Amino acid sequence: KKLYGVIGDPIAHSLSPAMQNKELKELGIDAYYHPFRIEGKDLKTAVEGMKVIGVEGFNVTIPHKTAIIPFLDKIDPLAKAIGAVNTVVREGDHFVGYNTDGVGFVESLREDWKKDLNGERVLIIGAGGAAKAIYYTLLSIGVKRVDICNRTLYKAEELIAAQPYEADSKAIPLDVAETNIDKYSLVIQTTSIGMAPEIDKSPISLRGIRPSAFVSDIIYNPDQTLFLNQAAQKGAKTQNGLGMLVYQGALAFEKWTNVKPDVTRMKRTLTNILG
Ligand code: ATR
Repeated sequence: KKLYGVIGDPIAHSLSPAMQNKELKELGIDAYYHPFRIEGKDLKTAVEGMKVIGVEGFNVTIPHKTAIIPFLDKIDPLAKAIGAVNTVVREGDHFVGYNTDGVGFVESLREDWKKDLNGERVLIIGAGGAAKAIYYTLLSIGVKRVDICNRTLYKAEELIAAQPYEADSKAIPLDVAETNIDKYSLVIQTTSIGMAPEIDKSPISLRGIRPSAFVSDIIYNPDQTLFLNQAAQKGAKTQNGLGMLVYQGALAFEKWTNVKPDVTRMKRTLTNILG
């Protein structure tokens, strides 16, 4: 039996084991995916342990996505640019780090909004780890006009200053984004606002959003944030973060097994768990 898993701290809440194990079983793959709670001080030992006991691949979640980089043998260029790894793959004797969060986001976007993204005018709300993965991935596929707004402006400025791809981006305060929201055709919400305990909050008002815009919120619980509700009320098409979660996992699954999983079934597995 092949062994896969996810390392993080905390880890009990992770939906990945249920999603991945169900899919492995459905596809008749003799493997098992286990959640490992690993404290920061044990990260290096844990990676070495995974290596020697023969783990074929694993996901990495909070708080280890950046800290794990020095302990891996090789880092894929996009993961290096993002500065975070969420998927490790055994390739021969090497553990190779990838980042499937941003690509997972883009694949889920392509499923729900069938558009060629290159000409779009994009606004990302937030400048944390998730924003960085999405931002750099969008740039890597040639999207050039992506503004970033954040409560703490300098963090958005830092993302833009450190970007490894050519782009025409601006860092803007939240109130400026709100005033100019009609300029954007794609708005991506990456902050934790909208999740418990802040379910009655929204990072910016979407009063001025174009009805033709597409609005994505990476939160999936609750399945419809106040932010997405505002967007839908204005006639915009919306998606929550369930697709991103499914696709980042599906991309990892495929790297490990060389089998394309059924993303619709994976999504259904998660929807059933979330109720
Ligand atoms: P993640 O890895 O999930 O992106 P993170 O790196 O902690 O998480 O980033 C959290 C993001 O949510 C940041 O953009 C943060 O804004 P600041 O940089 O100003 O802290 C944003 N965020 C969290 N709570 C917020 C709040 N109450 N109001 C505005 N922005 C908030």
